[in-house]
Amino acid sequence: MAIGEGLRGKRVFVTGHTGFKGSWLVMLLHRAGAHVTGYSLKPPTNPSLFEAAKVRDLVESHHEADIRDTARLTAAVKASQPDVVMHLAAQPLVRLSHRDPLETFSTNVVGTASVLDAVRGLNSPCGVIVVTSDKCYEPHDDGRPHDESDPMGGRDPYSASKGAAELVAAAYRRSYFPSERLTAHGVQLATVRAGNVIGGGDWAEDRIVTDIVRHLVAGRPVPVRNPAAIRPWQHVLEPLSGYLALAEGMLAEPSPRWCTGWNFGPAAGGDITVRELAEIFIKAWGSGSWEDVHDPRAPIETHALRLAIDKAIADLPWRPQLDAHEAIRRTAAWFSTFTTAPTSARSLCEADIEAYESLSKACFPSDTIEAAG
Ligand SMILES: NC(=O)c1ccc[n+]([C@@H]2O[C@H](COP(=O)([O-])OP(=O)(O)OC[C@H]3O[C@@H](n4cnc5c(N)ncnc54)[C@H](O)[C@@H]3O)[C@@H](O)[C@H]2O)c1
Repeated sequence: MAIGEGLRGKRVFVTGHTGFKGSWLVMLLHRAGAHVTGYSLKPPTNPSLFEAAKVRDLVESHHEADIRDTARLTAAVKASQPDVVMHLAAQPLVRLSHRDPLETFSTNVVGTASVLDAVRGLNSPCGVIVVTSDKCYEPHDDGRPHDESDPMGGRDPYSASKGAAELVAAAYRRSYFPSERLTAHGVQLATVRAGNVIGGGDWAEDRIVTDIVRHLVAGRPVPVRNPAAIRPWQHVLEPLSGYLALAEGMLAEPSPRWCTGWNFGPAAGGDITVRELAEIFIKAWGSGSWEDVHDPRAPIETHALRLAIDKAIADLPWRPQLDAHEAIRRTAAWFSTFTTAPTSARSLCEADIEAYESLSKACFPSDTIEAAG
């Protein structure tokens, strides 16, 4: 069974489709036979996966506009009559959020309200998946993984904006799409929280993989700002396959049980430090070195951040398929091939998706999934 196959023939409205995760998501949806409408600003980077993999060719309708343009967004959502809305558009960078907190709060909080309000205006059943982040949780320093019932918080503007986006979603759910009236309004609203995502085609500024690739290509040592920080690294296909499994569940069997927050982090024990990430990447690349450029005056970043994923594993045909080492090796292989053959972006993604699907098929044969449904 292909990832997202339950969405075959369904209409899916994706915000943020010109971004890194959005581009991979559109490729998955297209393979699954869904009809995709995309709504975003221009690709946030140059180069971008959206351009390199010609993702524009895979969407049936492409809107280049701001999610805070409520009139335009509402018209686009209405015209697409979506079975599922997947909201990924955001300002996703912590350091940029320190420089421009207002734009971050506006995009991530008001923007999320704007998307949910467009859904409210539809007056028809649909599944809604709002992508927030593992950083939405109020940090604690005891090393315990966050589970979905932990309180929202966030010390920096980006993290707080994602916590606030969660509260916006919860308020829309309680006020307009309450579980006890699901059969009347038909809107199933979930939020999804993933960790630090890596994979081919992410060129976002300030992300470690972007830094590593840029420095390796230039033959310079890779500067590492927080070598001891532990992050829940995961390949981009891990959370995306989780989001799609959730959407499939909503379509197959509408139920209040989908309408909550969901963690899609890496397997327990798989977290590694930024230093290890740099070392594994450099080894897979075949040459290079890294240097510690830790700045004691830099804004505080959460030291250890872990997600409990028991709920997703118990309730969905989903579980992590790639450990951090494998995710890093695949990402290094993607960039290393792309560096010599830039036309290969789409086929590199397709190859990663096929390999990932084989792992998922071995883990969840289709008869198991039907039995679970
Ligand atoms: N990449 C990660 O490690 C990671 C981890 C956890 C959560 N997330 C979340 O996943 C989502 C996608 O992240 P990404 O890494 O692909 O980011 P990205 O920067 O690559 O893509 C962001 C997308 O949002 C669009 N966008 C930004 N502001 C907009 C606006 N005002 N109106 C319309 N479109 C707008 C951009 O055009 C782009 O399509 C975000 O919500 C992010 O917070 C990402």
